[in-house]
Amino acid sequence: MTQPSHLTARPAPSLNGTARAPGDKSMSHRALILGAMATGTTEIEGLLEGDDVLATARAVKAFGATVERLGVGQWRVTGQGGFRTPADVIDCGNAGTGVRLLMGAAAGYPITATFDGDASLRKRPMGRVTDHLERMSARFDWSGARGLLPADLTGGSLSAIDHVQTVASAQVKSAILLAGLNAVGITTVTEPEPSRDHTERMLRAFGAVVEVETLDEGWRVSLTGGQALTGTGVAVPGDPSSAAFPLAAALIVPGSSVTVEGVMLNPLRTGLFQTWIDMGADLTITNRRSSGGEEVGDITARHSRLNGIVVPEDRAASMIDEYPILAATAAFADGATVMRGIGEMRVKESDRIALMAAGLAACGVAVEEEAEGFTVTGSNAVRGGATVTTHGDHRIAMSHLILGLAAEQAVTVDEPGMIATSFPGFVALMRGLGADIAEA
Ligand code: S3P
Repeated sequence: MTQPSHLTARPAPSLNGTARAPGDKSMSHRALILGAMATGTTEIEGLLEGDDVLATARAVKAFGATVERLGVGQWRVTGQGGFRTPADVIDCGNAGTGVRLLMGAAAGYPITATFDGDASLRKRPMGRVTDHLERMSARFDWSGARGLLPADLTGGSLSAIDHVQTVASAQVKSAILLAGLNAVGITTVTEPEPSRDHTERMLRAFGAVVEVETLDEGWRVSLTGGQALTGTGVAVPGDPSSAAFPLAAALIVPGSSVTVEGVMLNPLRTGLFQTWIDMGADLTITNRRSSGGEEVGDITARHSRLNGIVVPEDRAASMIDEYPILAATAAFADGATVMRGIGEMRVKESDRIALMAAGLAACGVAVEEEAEGFTVTGSNAVRGGATVTTHGDHRIAMSHLILGLAAEQAVTVDEPGMIATSFPGFVALMRGLGADIAEA
């Protein structure tokens, strides 16, 4: 199917209904990678079949695992207890998580591999992972600029390190821990605030011992090298980062009430929901239950009068991917929403601070950009009526389409095909709730 070059969201009368969030992207990457590192069979349910995760599935197959798709979201990975040298370049597409975690995992084995990605991934900093893997004795050769893909890895014979992060990053932590599994000694990562802990939780499910020590500020995670993983079952719950989009639409389109079922409620991922509640959102969580080692629940959002707030900076790690959609909802709030301490947003799939500031301004929203943050001053009448450049960033595209549903005039985004990296069913799901989102 050819992708439209643009998508347009038109003002919606109201959005109503129940939907299911797609599988969590972070957990989906990890389930495939740990399944491939393990010995035996890993059956995965609810895997996100987005482009980023499909690239990781192809990668672990190239590293020697048997990967079978049994049905929608149902996958089986049979690992060999290690990676072998792949025949081809490992192309991770748009996926920062995919490439960084795979580099960490592969570094522990005596193999060589070339990693590459799309134009966006080639611009993203890899040194934040590879510098530490090099300290562990892995080798990286760069055919272009140091720290930018493509990169050639020579792995094996690693030694453990003790790494103290200045900015919490689950990708960096996870890459080091995955390498540490096959390093000599105890690998330790200290974070100033806890970042998402799916790697730690899943490593335990695969039989590894991972220690966590809570500190006055942040925590320290450590594991001893030489531990073998055993295949297991993984149930992937719904992705809170994707659930955020239909819930946001309900908050800002008058008369709406939307429920998203099966959303993962890991406290290290729910900063946005807390922030919306602090802004006065009518958000209720029901049917809390446990699934796949994570708490999940059904979240209902109803149209709400939101108030601008100062988002606590120490919440950044628990909602780093959610600031674009928070900013879109802040455009409809009374007063200013101040978002600071989020310089990391500039090195995601795009410079998300710059693109949100530009896109919101083009839609008539008052935005002030800073080096490490931005402030959005809302109004109950947002003009819209713009075509927004997304630089191929899925969350920039979805955030502006959601804004367009509540604006006075339609909002158009370019490169909508990239939405499939994290949320392939986004347009169908939103249409099912009553949204008018169509090819421009
Ligand atoms: C992710 C961690 C986050 C997040 C990314 C997914 C993960 O990156 O932005 O989309 O799955 O570990 P950082 O931890 O590097 O901030």
